[in-house]
Amino acid sequence: MSGTNTEKSMRIHALVRAIMQFFEANRARATGIDQALEKMRAMDLSLRASVDVPPCDTRHATILTEAIEDITSPELRDIASCLKRARRDLVWREDNAQFYAPNADLGDGYRNCNLHSLLIGPDACGFEAQDFCLGFFMLGPRTLYRDHAHDAPELYVNLSPRSGWRLSSKVWQDYEAGSIIWNAPGESHATRAYDRPFLSVFVWLENIGSICRVVPFPDWVEIEDSLFRNEF
Ligand SMILES: [Fe+2]
Repeated sequence: MSGTNTEKSMRIHALVRAIMQFFEANRARATGIDQALEKMRAMDLSLRASVDVPPCDTRHATILTEAIEDITSPELRDIASCLKRARRDLVWREDNAQFYAPNADLGDGYRNCNLHSLLIGPDACGFEAQDFCLGFFMLGPRTLYRDHAHDAPELYVNLSPRSGWRLSSKVWQDYEAGSIIWNAPGESHATRAYDRPFLSVFVWLENIGSICRVVPFPDWVEIEDSLFRNEF
């Protein structure tokens, strides 16, 4: 491993450690954190186990910068500083609905601006894992990620100051930075980003190859119009 690659691996390794430390500090706050930690502890996440993957930047770089600058909560300080240092080491990818059936009604908002980077998982830029993934997920401002469900149990740590969630087909609720969302297998959930981008840490604990399905709701167009007009 060259010196440059060693430094890159160290930055990604530090980022994974910062996320694990947040999980450790918040293990009592949400279902799924303990399970995620248990799985991560069973992996070799040491520096020498890290993979060396060429970074990949994104057309949404400006929005990503805004999203990272918005991480100001004290409890997220370590994750924010490690992410700032490692951001250009990561592989940033868009979901072109490849996790969904063809013609899934995801809407243009999601298709126009979603982004993720895997730190742990298949083809991740930090550590290889088979049936587990952990990374970052971003939505552009004024974007609705329409209601959907999947067999993979899912954990989110919201890094942005404000994001809207509709969980288990119930009412919309806003969540602040550092809040934790748990989506049990098959439970529907939707996310909306307001006038700033939405950035989160996400984990799929198992069944990561399962297909996602859109769960239709009658208010999608209304919400998307309201987001577009900045009415929230
Ligand atoms: Fe999900």
